[in-house]
Amino acid sequence: MTLTFASIGDARLAAKRRLPKIFFDYIDGGSSAEETLAASTGDFSRWQLEQRVLAGVQPRKLATDFLGRRNALPFMLGPVGFLGLFAGKGEILAARAAHAADIPTCLSNFSIASLADLRQAGCDGPLHFQLYVLKDRGLAETFVAAAEVAGVDTLFLTVDTAVTGVRERDARNGFRAVTRIGPRMGFGMALRPAWCLDMLRAGKPGVGAVRGQTEFGAGILEQAATLSRLIDPALSWGDVAWLRRRWTGRLVIKGILHADDALRARDAGADAIVVSNHGGRQLDGAPSTIAVLPEIVDALAGDMEVLIDGGFRRGTDIIKAIALGASGVLLGRATAFAVAAGGEAGVARAIDLLRGEIDVTLALMGLSSVDELKAKGRGVLRKSR
Ligand SMILES: Cc1cc2nc3c(=O)[nH]c(=O)nc-3n(C[C@H](O)[C@H](O)[C@H](O)COP(=O)(O)O)c2cc1C
Repeated sequence: MTLTFASIGDARLAAKRRLPKIFFDYIDGGSSAEETLAASTGDFSRWQLEQRVLAGVQPRKLATDFLGRRNALPFMLGPVGFLGLFAGKGEILAARAAHAADIPTCLSNFSIASLADLRQAGCDGPLHFQLYVLKDRGLAETFVAAAEVAGVDTLFLTVDTAVTGVRERDARNGFRAVTRIGPRMGFGMALRPAWCLDMLRAGKPGVGAVRGQTEFGAGILEQAATLSRLIDPALSWGDVAWLRRRWTGRLVIKGILHADDALRARDAGADAIVVSNHGGRQLDGAPSTIAVLPEIVDALAGDMEVLIDGGFRRGTDIIKAIALGASGVLLGRATAFAVAAGGEAGVARAIDLLRGEIDVTLALMGLSSVDELKAKGRGVLRKSR
């Protein structure tokens, strides 16, 4: 499939045309008044880039280190639940595109494909797993054990979902309450025949991590509802200590938005954090991640690696975050829209677009590489008035 969308925004529109409304809104929406969601993309304009000329920078090198590896690009695919509902076998397609581009991908705990499915499908590149800790630590333990078997080297513990944010679009669509396909949902699906055909071909979906465990319910909707109910709202730093003892690989805490929490994550033995507000889907009114990144980087003073997600749609967004001290960027909605828009080719196209934008931006800033950008840091930025 040849895909020609010219921006992640175009991929979003293609996803909107292809997906039933209930799923598009689930991806696209944020919590409450969506103020944090708007800030996530809007706040990049607080920073301007230094244009420098006649630097003779040809060609540029985009490879850089994060999470213990030299990656071809300064970004990776972040954990997004239910990719396999946005396109048949969506997680496998996304992982294939990421690995072809030599960047990591992180499988969500709420995925249709399991870690084993990805490995069986030949996704043998760097694979990370995102974990929600459930009230029943025995269940959390089974997820950790599956990650070990699949050769996952980095576990992302998501900590900003003690309770689920109030998502009005989902409430209007009846997304949260739904445990089986009713007439309204069925009608919405029938309006998207290409998506329906794709789903039929992919087979009956379920949550891969709990496959075969009948107590979670019969289909994807029941399983997802049960799993959501089981996420431990009382998770605390003591549980991070438990996981740190249990998991011998790299541990990343995802969902840090305050410098004091970043310091606690470091003290709890995390190897890295993701500065994240869950893409404006949790605490509405919280700041954008790009706004708090500098104070978190300063507080950590190089003690721990800092990654970031939230609102990244363009190469220039990624350049700004790297200049402000992030070692790498995670793509959330950009991944979901690209999967929905065109499966593996869609994700490959999104990665190509961002690669091209980063390359052009470095060239126009007179920089020869992402590593040079990291070395120069904030010196290549200006605050907008
Ligand atoms: C549809 C959707 C599903 C998500 N599912 C998960 C998930 O299962 N686990 C998780 O840690 N984060 C999840 N996230 C949050 C993303 O990992 C990421 O933090 C966020 O999307 C970043 O913002 P962006 O979408 O603007 O890039 C999800 C986000 C979206 C949009």
